[in-house]
Amino acid sequence: MKAETSRQSFLEKFKSIHVALTFRDVFLLPGRAEVEPSEVDVRTRVTKTHNLNIPFVSSPMDTVTESDMAIAVARHGGLGVVHRNCSIDEEVEMAKRVKRAEALIIRDVITVAPDDTVGQALALMEKHNISGLPVVEKTKLVGIVTGRDVRFAQPSLSVKQVMTKNVVKAEEGTSIEEAQRLLGDHKIEKLPIVNKTGELAGLITFKDILLRGKYPDAARDENGQLLCAAAVSPFDLERAKKLDEFADILVTDVSHFHNANVFKATKTLMSEVSADVIVGNIGTYEAAEDAITELEHIGGFRVGIGSGSICTTTEITKAGSPTLFATAQVSDAVAKYGADIPVIADGGIRTPGDVAIALTAGASAVMIGNLFARCRESPGTLITIGGRYYKQYRGMGSPTAREKRYSLDRYSLPSKGVPEGVEGWVPYKGEVSIVLDELVSGLRASMGYAGAGSVQELWRKARLAALSPSGAEEARPHDILLPSESQEV
Ligand code: XMP
Repeated sequence: MKAETSRQSFLEKFKSIHVALTFRDVFLLPGRAEVEPSEVDVRTRVTKTHNLNIPFVSSPMDTVTESDMAIAVARHGGLGVVHRNCSIDEEVEMAKRVKRAEALIIRDVITVAPDDTVGQALALMEKHNISGLPVVEKTKLVGIVTGRDVRFAQPSLSVKQVMTKNVVKAEEGTSIEEAQRLLGDHKIEKLPIVNKTGELAGLITFKDILLRGKYPDAARDENGQLLCAAAVSPFDLERAKKLDEFADILVTDVSHFHNANVFKATKTLMSEVSADVIVGNIGTYEAAEDAITELEHIGGFRVGIGSGSICTTTEITKAGSPTLFATAQVSDAVAKYGADIPVIADGGIRTPGDVAIALTAGASAVMIGNLFARCRESPGTLITIGGRYYKQYRGMGSPTAREKRYSLDRYSLPSKGVPEGVEGWVPYKGEVSIVLDELVSGLRASMGYAGAGSVQELWRKARLAALSPSGAEEARPHDILLPSESQEV
């Protein structure tokens, strides 16, 4: 082996060492406020083309986000990213469920044909948990069957024998107010929408109109359906293409995105799908710079490596980029190149203050696993330990998650022989709306202190200061015995 002569001095390496600050190392300096916390605007963007009403995204992890979580988070104005630690069909089904949860006009209407049997109609209703089906001959609307029509009829009868033929319907372009009036006047639950030639073009349901009123701040697409994101591997084109039919956003799920093969595969993937693609995870200025210059149409950056509460990446490999540092690095690169790419700070968020700090460092939204895994809507198992409720939470690089074949290319055995995550339990918190309300109220309070009326103002105005170890001590309750620490109370 030849002697290496052109290397950088090791001492120089130490001199140019970065201080990679974490959420625990800094705090927000109070600034002059022109707005009250209740007036603070927390709306943001999660990709170039998709807006959120609150800056929260749930992680694509199999103990955090399946359809129930994605629906609940989107209804509150955020975004859920369904995980990919499952078969392609299972992930597609999750995305479909989110998109079907509500809509202004349902476009992919589930229908029956006049010659189908009552039994088949009933099975469809049960499978999709719906109470009525338009009857369509070729593409023409010819009737409608409801649960009442089929439940007490002979299963072998044909649909045309039990359907209502005189269907109350509306033409394409009917306003929601007019649809609501028709539903009310005729005391019906479903209003088929037809085009000029009588072909079925959509369906408006009473339930969707009610839900729209119930969740006015939901994150929706232009059809009124909830926004949905789905995790993909850049190497799994088949999955990405199938998900592209339903999900609004695809999120690459790679622990080290700054890799030549990953870039190449992502380039191909982006050319084959129409959804916005959020890429990551990255943690450095250089990674963002390379991505901006080498990949076109990046929808967003997912940043932070090794900060997640279940991560052992940095502990084991000594490689990583704490989420706060990563956010600042990537945001600076985005600004330097004048790129229009929202940054999502991923991992390590424990408090609303951490969210405010991530946004101050340039993030548009934060991605959270741990705090959402605690909720009823997460798929993890609920257990009791010592009389208290907990939910299962595991890293996607943990031994049991790796056992499921579909997580293998993220922390894969062929390229990586070690697990990079742990598995455990987090205290049960109830519905995710409780956690989101706490996060949003706390974030508004932080922004109020910082004197920022919006996320953009936080970027411009908010200042951070470093916290010393004694400062950290002083910043929590001290010199008092708290009830939680006392056996007596
Ligand atoms: P929190 O702190 O909210 O972080 O629990 C969730 C984020 O952690 C990442 N993640 C992992 N990182 N090993 C890692 O190094 C893992 O096994 C693992 N699983 C998830 C991921 O970015 C997630 O959003």
